[in-house]
Amino acid sequence: MDLTVRPRRLRSSTLLRKMVRETRVDPSSLIYPMFVIEGSNKVEEIPSMPNQFRYTVDEMDRKLDALLKAGASSVMLFGIPSHKDEVGSQAYAEDGIVQQALRHCKEKYPELYLMTDVCMCEYTSHGHCGVLCGDYVENDKTLELLAKTALSHVQAGSDMVAPSDMMDGRIRAIRELLDENGYVTTPIMSYAVKYASSFYGPFRDAAGSAPSFGDRKSYQMDYHNLREGVKEAMLDVEEGADIIMVKPAMSYLDVVRELRPLIDLPMCAYSVSGEYAMVKAAAEKGWIDEEKIMCEMAASAFRAGTDLYITYYAEELAECMKKGLIG
Ligand code: PBG
Repeated sequence: MDLTVRPRRLRSSTLLRKMVRETRVDPSSLIYPMFVIEGSNKVEEIPSMPNQFRYTVDEMDRKLDALLKAGASSVMLFGIPSHKDEVGSQAYAEDGIVQQALRHCKEKYPELYLMTDVCMCEYTSHGHCGVLCGDYVENDKTLELLAKTALSHVQAGSDMVAPSDMMDGRIRAIRELLDENGYVTTPIMSYAVKYASSFYGPFRDAAGSAPSFGDRKSYQMDYHNLREGVKEAMLDVEEGADIIMVKPAMSYLDVVRELRPLIDLPMCAYSVSGEYAMVKAAAEKGWIDEEKIMCEMAASAFRAGTDLYITYYAEELAECMKKGLIG
């Protein structure tokens, strides 16, 4: 048989396959999104996200311990306040829920890297990601509140802030306020290319943050667009973002792939609540192998070019990496 090139030669054993593997993964690339609620002594399961919970500050430790033990060492905190108002004032309150969680984690877990989601939608009574002028989400007024929120997170102990609102100019506004206050070394991860996606459904149940009218299409991106994603990413690079995120992950890996050669910054992909919920639901029915699917989804995001991966499976993935099931 005249066949000199035989790709199967390099697939002949587990050891060799591992030697020639192109995509290497490490638990330090994983970020775990965590929901914090007010009160004490409560761990509430999120119905549309089995095995994911909302924690009161005093109950966070068990999950944090488990994450650290598995080898995952960064979290993205989301606050769910008990009181919401028109201007989302609990987002930047000194004793707001995220601020309380940050102080707790900073003191008890110095080895944990603390990131915080900066947005208004969990805090506003109308569920939109900014302040309203009639039915319109006012861009420039919102910037002030976002910057104030980011500053209050950093003052409470956040190591990195991640604005997810999709207002124009928020990276610059946040960078300026942090710098003026002496936080020149605190990085900003921008949810730069964030699509208006139905994959966020379960998150909105978890955070009670579904908009009370309309949708988010006047600020989050139209999912038919790729060039616009490049524009968004480039603008945020210019404004001083330190990391560029694409969100969701699974259906948007073409965007990660497109941006990778264009951007000199680390990139992040967020495997969102709907992706998690779909895997869970199919696994519960016995239709797919949850662990294998979770590994395959993560590897594909890294293969597309992301450096960081936000996932509700952070603990399980870190365990799989240890066992050599991925990576
Ligand atoms: C806040 C925010 C959302 C998510 C992350 N930050 C919800 C939204 O934009 O509606 C979604 C995360 C997920 O679905 O896992 N703006």
